[in-house]
Amino acid sequence: MFNSANYVRTQGDLTLAYAGSGGRFRPLGGKHFFLFFGEYRGDSMPITGRDLQAPLGYPSYEGYPLRASVIAQNPDPNAQYLEVGTGMGEFIYHLVVSQKCIHRPIIIDPIDYNLLALLLEEINHFVDNDNHKIELEQLNKRVRLYQQQNLVDHRKITLLQAVEHQDLQGSMDVVVDNYGPSYWDKWSNPSPLELEGRLLKPDGQLIFNEGAPKEKI
Ligand SMILES: C[S@@+](CC[C@H](N)C(=O)[O-])C[C@H]1O[C@@H](n2cnc3c(N)ncnc32)[C@H](O)[C@@H]1O
Repeated sequence: MFNSANYVRTQGDLTLAYAGSGGRFRPLGGKHFFLFFGEYRGDSMPITGRDLQAPLGYPSYEGYPLRASVIAQNPDPNAQYLEVGTGMGEFIYHLVVSQKCIHRPIIIDPIDYNLLALLLEEINHFVDNDNHKIELEQLNKRVRLYQQQNLVDHRKITLLQAVEHQDLQGSMDVVVDNYGPSYWDKWSNPSPLELEGRLLKPDGQLIFNEGAPKEKI
């Protein structure tokens, strides 16, 4: 599956693929770098790093839903934000750098950001395209921030495990899921959207990518 990528590197259960300029690999989530996470229902789960807004030339559903972008630009300082399946996405990064939030944003994602940081560091030497270098630096910045528990509360667990945590139940003002389990596990029962609803306060908002294509991307 990785034959057409320019560069592939595996560590633990993570595989980093770089589509490069000559590769036939289609950039995923608007980026030429993406990772695959172990085995996932006979396939592998891509870990992408979407920007709040899709890059030029990409359909808008390749970014975050508009409501999430608006919140990230101007968060409510008192709100508790949580993202399920953050990967290397920009939403939580934006909340943190705004320095407006009193409560640390919470990430629910079983990935290991330390391993991810190592892989991104290694690939740096193989990238010669200036635009790709900029992309890689953006991803590096996000991953380095997501490693810092004093800035984000990363729980290395799945959504199913998260709903068992009492401190998470019914306590979120906003839950975002952009191509996380709402996309990958949509047929499971209970559905990810139902599980995510259990994390919300009664007047909380659930934001997911309603425009996402039906086919896996
Ligand atoms: C395709 S990436 C999306 C990343 C980012 N939100 C974006 O928009 O680019 C999917 C992410 O969801 C995570 N994920 C998949 N299933 C999950 C689950 N059941 N609970 C929590 N995270 C999950 C994966 O580890 C991965 O980081």
